[in-house]
Amino acid sequence: MPMSEQSKRLLWRDLAIFDGLTTLPERHWVAVEDGRICALGTMQTLDPSQHRDAVDMGQGGVMTPGLIDCHTHLVFGGQRSDEFELRLQGASYEEIARRGGGILGTVTATREADESALFDAAAKRLTSMIEDGVTSVEIKSGYGLTLADELKMLRVARRLGEQLPVRVTTTLLAAHALPPEYADDADGYIELVCDQILPAAHAEGLVDAVDVFCERIAFSSEQSRRVFEAARALDLPVKAHAEQLSLSGGAALVAQFRGLSADHIEYLDDDGIAAMADAGTVGVLLPGAFYTLRETQHPPIDAMRRAGVAMAVASDANPGTSPIVLPTLMLNMACTLLRLTPQEALAGMTRHAAQAIGQPDLGRIAVGAPADLCVWNIDSPAELAYAVQPGRLKHRLLEGVLTHG
Ligand code: NIG
Ligand code: FE
Repeated sequence: MPMSEQSKRLLWRDLAIFDGLTTLPERHWVAVEDGRICALGTMQTLDPSQHRDAVDMGQGGVMTPGLIDCHTHLVFGGQRSDEFELRLQGASYEEIARRGGGILGTVTATREADESALFDAAAKRLTSMIEDGVTSVEIKSGYGLTLADELKMLRVARRLGEQLPVRVTTTLLAAHALPPEYADDADGYIELVCDQILPAAHAEGLVDAVDVFCERIAFSSEQSRRVFEAARALDLPVKAHAEQLSLSGGAALVAQFRGLSADHIEYLDDDGIAAMADAGTVGVLLPGAFYTLRETQHPPIDAMRRAGVAMAVASDANPGTSPIVLPTLMLNMACTLLRLTPQEALAGMTRHAAQAIGQPDLGRIAVGAPADLCVWNIDSPAELAYAVQPGRLKHRLLEGVLTHG
């Protein structure tokens, strides 16, 4: 549609709707104007005289909120297929990291790359996600580990949001791994993160949230706490990579800071679940990493359900544990590998993902909500999780502007 028609009301009819939490029982019409959903109703309430000037967007299909990928490491240099081969021969992710490979391999390649090379490589990955229905994406730093290189990554992330049709939120993950320069001085590195990298990135408007890899191969609870305190002092929300390879208490810790989310959480225990439920901290499930590392420890889905912890689903797109940029595949894996229902998986990439990035207005279909929407050429919302099939997107809207179809 020509952009000149974009200020007009758009009208869809006879849709199956997943509203961000549930599939609505009847078929609906939906109208969008001025960037928002302005009206919707069941088909028998449609009065054509109310929509005479609207652009007819057709009928049928499924409408969902635009997908939100709330945990990615999309900006990085190089690739790690060599490490993939090592793991196939029996080496574990943790062993490779202890030998100086893993994240640190990507740190070297990312430091060597300039902003434009990082931008071009990440734009390709992000374009695949957009074509698969993503309208919002969170992007972390964490492969620079110096002031200049962390800022470089975050600037690239911001520019992706300015130049591609997608909302980008940025997360500072300077506490992702211990850089070689600080090999014997983890506390010294945490001091650099808290006293220099975080304030400088924040002053440049590059930080929407702060993350820490709280794990025995990364940072301790005490070191993570210092980063969270520095973030809260700047009024920035926090999140954590927690309980991925072992139980280290990172989820309970991030909940103490009313964190947005605790992510991975394969080894999460009852205390962590109770703390997250109490704080409203989202549990972010990363089935791509679970699959790639051939993890056998399942996140405690049932216990989280019982405790009422909101569960999100994300790609964790990164060159090590999840070299995957197809969000709808994550819906499928969340069901087949982690045993979510298709509705839970969909809520995990819409309503609950919005909560995990601190944007609770997004990820919902309701009158007045921002019109970040997808219309799919399928018959029922569950099909999105059931079949692994690119090319089902019919329309995508970002703030009411048609960016696909
Ligand atoms: O979310 N666990 C730590 N960080 C990433 C992996 C990063 C990498 O291996 O490059 C994750 O799995
Ligand atoms: Fe991650």
